[in-house]
Amino acid sequence: KTIHKESWGSRVGLILAMAGNAVGLGNFLRFPVKAMQNGGGAFIIPYLVCFLLMGIPLLWIEWSMGRFGGKNGHHSTPFILDSMDRRKFWKYIGVFGIFTNIAVAAYYCYLESWTMAYVYHFLVGTFQELNQVEVASFFEKYVDLNTSTTGIPFEPIFFFLLCVVLNTWILSKGLSGGVEIASKIGMPLLIFFGAFLAYKGITLQAGKDGALYGGAVGLNFLWTPQFDSLANPKVWLAAAGQIFFTLSVGMGTIQCYASYVNSKQDIALNAMSAGWMNEFVEVVLGSAILIPISVGYLGIDKVVELTTSGGLGLGFRTMPFLFGQWGTVIGSFAGVAFFGLLFFAGITSSLAMGTPWMGFMQDEFKWKREKSAISFGLIVLILGLPTVFFFNEGVFDQYDYWAGEVSLVVFALLETILFAWVFGMDKGWKEITDGADIHIPGFYRLVIKWITPVLLLFVFIGSLIGPANGDWGAAFASLANGNGWLLDNSSIIAQLLNKELNNQLAQATDPVLIQ
Ligand code: PHE
Ligand code: NA
Repeated sequence: KTIHKESWGSRVGLILAMAGNAVGLGNFLRFPVKAMQNGGGAFIIPYLVCFLLMGIPLLWIEWSMGRFGGKNGHHSTPFILDSMDRRKFWKYIGVFGIFTNIAVAAYYCYLESWTMAYVYHFLVGTFQELNQVEVASFFEKYVDLNTSTTGIPFEPIFFFLLCVVLNTWILSKGLSGGVEIASKIGMPLLIFFGAFLAYKGITLQAGKDGALYGGAVGLNFLWTPQFDSLANPKVWLAAAGQIFFTLSVGMGTIQCYASYVNSKQDIALNAMSAGWMNEFVEVVLGSAILIPISVGYLGIDKVVELTTSGGLGLGFRTMPFLFGQWGTVIGSFAGVAFFGLLFFAGITSSLAMGTPWMGFMQDEFKWKREKSAISFGLIVLILGLPTVFFFNEGVFDQYDYWAGEVSLVVFALLETILFAWVFGMDKGWKEITDGADIHIPGFYRLVIKWITPVLLLFVFIGSLIGPANGDWGAAFASLANGNGWLLDNSSIIAQLLNKELNNQLAQATDPVLIQ
């Protein structure tokens, strides 16, 4: 039987696939929501600092680890990490880099399937007859299987299945024949739709098409820096978390893609191209659509309120109605563009989440590509169904918290220690700069060795024992007074103790209607 020898078809294809991996639902749904929740301009500076001091170093670390592992025929993190040090436990730490992908894929594919459903409903005109309140409750009804009109949870399951089957099918075609083609189609379309919507968002005018405020109001809220936020650890944690999620670092996905890069090919510039493309899409397109448009119609306070209680669902609750204000033709096109853009962003990312498992099964168990892809699809289906059936019980948010936040930080910290301190900076720097098409400033050697791991440690400790309301001063004062540490409900320890979790989650999924 034939085992396919995978590789990338071209450099452009590789960069587009890597950018497709990074550019995802995180750019258009998660980033605006995190920014609004953390005070807009207060979020932006920590966000950019985290990009420069953790994001970029981790990109170089992960790309070079991947290419290094690939030289010895390893394409998944257990064996890539194993090849970097003698000690056996790294192999088990590497399992994170497969498991996290599977767990994120499970809820991510469900989210991705909503975008397919919404494109369908725009095409058949479902939203045209609905008013603002009805559009918001359309989403509530969609995810709440108990109130679905047919009484059986047919629709979300149908689209979820369709989404998983589509992912499985593309994965079964391999890297150059499947993933790369999907990226070559998806990324340009995404940029095209994104540019159209960003133009509409930025040029939104108060008083026109029923808008209350111009597009500049939302943009200013986001881009007016507030320097006092630099002292707020809670904002730093949110910013770091977003950087990890959006760049897909700390997951094992980049290592896997990079392990199929030719051993003499450039790492330094490729990593920057894909990483900066993600940041362009996030800070330019990602901030010029959802925020200006929703703020234009609803005002800042309302949108902030919606983001605290509605999370990732914001766009699904509000946008179909707001687009409708632009008339049937432009409105429907905008709807298909927005949810189509989300779909392309999503699928090029979920495909990336499938490859570590595929690589692992193909390398170590000599499974065929098709069998590896089908097994991935089945696992995602089984792990994903709880997020479909128990969405309103908060299972979806639990997946996002543990797989999409906590484990990224833990894994990133461990791999940075392995790379900079165990493997060693001399060898590490050589791996990063070998075949490089750009000159990397030597200062980044120090950053990778000292700053990145120390920041990661802070982020980890901060998320472990984060104090109530992010107020470290009050928490230390309370400790000094003998009253104990004030733990925030969102800290890892509080979550492990399951403190008030149910309250929080119940609140997070309460139906939110716009008046
Ligand atoms: N970076 C993707 C996003 O922004 C998410 C992702 C995480 C993709 C992990 C692949 C692996 O949505
Ligand atoms: Na991203």
